[in-house]
Amino acid sequence: MYVKRLRFENFRNLADGEILPYDGINVIYGENAQGKTNLLEAIWLFTGGHSFRGAKDGELPRIDAETGNNSSYARLLLDFYSEEREQEAILNIQNGRRNSVINGVQKKTGSALIGKVCAVIFSPEHLLLVKEGPSKRRAFIDGAICQIKPIYAKTLGIYNRALSQRNALLKEITRFPDLTETIDVWNVKLARLGAEVMAERREYTEKLAKKNEIIYNGISSGREKMEIRYSPSLKTGEGFSLKEAEEIYLTELRDNEKSDIKAGFTTAGPHRDDMEIKISGMSARMYGSQGQQRSAVLALKLAEAELLAEAVNEPPLVLLDDVMSELDRGRQDYLLNHLENRQVFITCCDLSVVDSLNVGAKFYVEKGNVSHNTE
Ligand SMILES: Nc1ncnc2c1ncn2[C@@H]1O[C@H](COP(=O)(O)OP(=O)(O)OP(=O)(O)O)[C@@H](O)[C@H]1O
Ligand SMILES: [Mg+2]
Repeated sequence: MYVKRLRFENFRNLADGEILPYDGINVIYGENAQGKTNLLEAIWLFTGGHSFRGAKDGELPRIDAETGNNSSYARLLLDFYSEEREQEAILNIQNGRRNSVINGVQKKTGSALIGKVCAVIFSPEHLLLVKEGPSKRRAFIDGAICQIKPIYAKTLGIYNRALSQRNALLKEITRFPDLTETIDVWNVKLARLGAEVMAERREYTEKLAKKNEIIYNGISSGREKMEIRYSPSLKTGEGFSLKEAEEIYLTELRDNEKSDIKAGFTTAGPHRDDMEIKISGMSARMYGSQGQQRSAVLALKLAEAELLAEAVNEPPLVLLDDVMSELDRGRQDYLLNHLENRQVFITCCDLSVVDSLNVGAKFYVEKGNVSHNTE
């Protein structure tokens, strides 16, 4: 798939305007704090996902630098080519909420766009995937599965709601012990939904691991081996079935009732899953160098892109925010040579880092003004 035109209105610091990208490599360049990442973010939001910078929707409409006034809305319009036809999507952000229009059909939410526009994004924030605790890794796996299977977003949403309800009940039970009887309703519900979540995550991680290993091998010129493994909170063993996972989780929830009431939350389950990341046999989080951690995240993202391409039968958009720094020449070259046959948006401060690239279009960003450099 590729973007033919992106228009933006009242979005972040970007002056109202549009870009007409090339269907190969697009470089967005300019000094710090000019609006390059904002432009990538505008494209990314069409995947229906949350801002990759963790921004709330209310932060997206433009704030006037002089008056400090918040614009009441932001609007993004995307003309794109996918599923062998031209399509159009509009994303409206108003009062901290999103709604969308797909090919003329009004939708109540922004997430209705999931599966329409597919993209993978690498940004410096994603280094936390390796550096921080399990929640980032769960979010990565879940986000990746959601793009392939939009129904998974629903399952996960229902699981999370059921989890909050069980947690709320656990707290109430300390005051109203009679409520203890009702907890099993939530045990049963959580076990069923949780088993689905675990099965999807395991299946996805196994596929990702294969692609990831090959890509990382390339990035490190065969010098290092990267391994990832799904590491569920519940001891399910390697090849569990849905039924087995459900039984294991249900038993765990029932066994844990007393300790969960004491703790005030549900102590075990897929909401505490992790994904193990190792480079050359060592934890990438604890022992990885800066360049290795960056390479690891990049390999994960490129592997995600390959799985997404297989699932939707066309390559997703690849958005790379400030990807080159901290990578040595060999790693940069590998990356740049693996971006063919897809539309790529890559930001940098200095055009010289993409010297060896066959760049299609260059967009210069200065104080929120985006101009197409046709030199
Ligand atoms: N809602 C908003 N309204 C107005 N300005 C905003 C809004 N949100 C962010 N900005 C401004 O946008 C500017 C540019 O942000 P952006 O992250 O896109 O810069 P960048 O070009 O990617 O810089 P860097 O090279 O440092 O990553 C920031 O200075 C920020 O103050
Ligand atoms: Mg930036």
